[in-house]
Amino acid sequence: MTAALLPTSSALYERVQRIIPPMEWPVFSGDIDAILKLKRERDAVILAHNYQTPEIFHCVADIVGDSLALARRAMEVDAGTIVLAGVHFMAETAKLLNPGKTVLIPDSGAGCSLADSITAEDVRLMRQRYPGVPVVTYVNTSAAVKAESDICCTSGNALAVVESLGVPRVMMLPDEYLAQNIAAQTDVEIIPWQGHCEVHERFTPADIRELREAHPGVTVLAHPECPPEVVAEADFAGSTAAMSDYVGRHRPASVVLMTECSMSDNVAVDHPDVEFVRPCNLCPHMKRITLANIRAALEENRHEVTIDPLVADGARRAVERMLEV
Ligand code: 13P
Ligand code: SF4
Repeated sequence: MTAALLPTSSALYERVQRIIPPMEWPVFSGDIDAILKLKRERDAVILAHNYQTPEIFHCVADIVGDSLALARRAMEVDAGTIVLAGVHFMAETAKLLNPGKTVLIPDSGAGCSLADSITAEDVRLMRQRYPGVPVVTYVNTSAAVKAESDICCTSGNALAVVESLGVPRVMMLPDEYLAQNIAAQTDVEIIPWQGHCEVHERFTPADIRELREAHPGVTVLAHPECPPEVVAEADFAGSTAAMSDYVGRHRPASVVLMTECSMSDNVAVDHPDVEFVRPCNLCPHMKRITLANIRAALEENRHEVTIDPLVADGARRAVERMLEV
């Protein structure tokens, strides 16, 4: 691309002007221009999860999506450096699939309550307790946990992964609610673990009933990390990408996304005709990623993601097996 064709922050503002007020834009524009320049100089691409804030998601990211899309698209990256605007397990997945590339996460403390809920030793103990039962591990886990697993899944493919194994019983770790929500859709018996997402566990069926009363006709979409009682009251449950697709396909007059707050902002950019009702919960881990630390990551090559070679092969096998389903 020639310099004349490169986007600048002022051209990008048009895209997000309904979401970011003009008064706030100067706070972002300097970092955006610097990041666009650094990406070219460093041969870098930015992968951003759907929960990143709009100035990251719409203005500096090259590839956006849910965890499944980010894993798939990570395999197609030509650039030498990947900056993962998301949480640590997502950066580890990108590194597993790109062992020869530099993978950076702008804040190495961007964790996940689900990933923190289980260790590799816990998985080994579960295998002793349920001998011969395959372990399906949510990607929201460390590489060490993945290495102890037969196959990974995301919220976008969990049902297909469970059913692909052709067995009557599986362990599904560590998200108890995702496991219960999948169990409701299959004859495969599912043994869960008691991990929860600290963002989605806070939604309740009463929240949905109150929303429906306050906004008659509102369409309610929920992430499958929500408790089953919440999913039961929603009109649709699916991964972050599936919720976004639902809005595009059905164009509800008004919608509420029972998930992390930035989702509504990001989806709203492409759907000015849809009213987004916005009770939401913030993910403190996703919110650790900012334009300032993305810029610093590119300027100072920090924080590089490395994976213990003793676990990398096993973890990669579990992720690649998922991508074949
Ligand atoms: P998705 O795979 O649906 O994007 O979910 C990731 C996540 O962390 C949800 O809390
Ligand atoms: Fe983890 Fe929940 Fe945050 Fe997703 S929203 S990264 S599952 S804590």
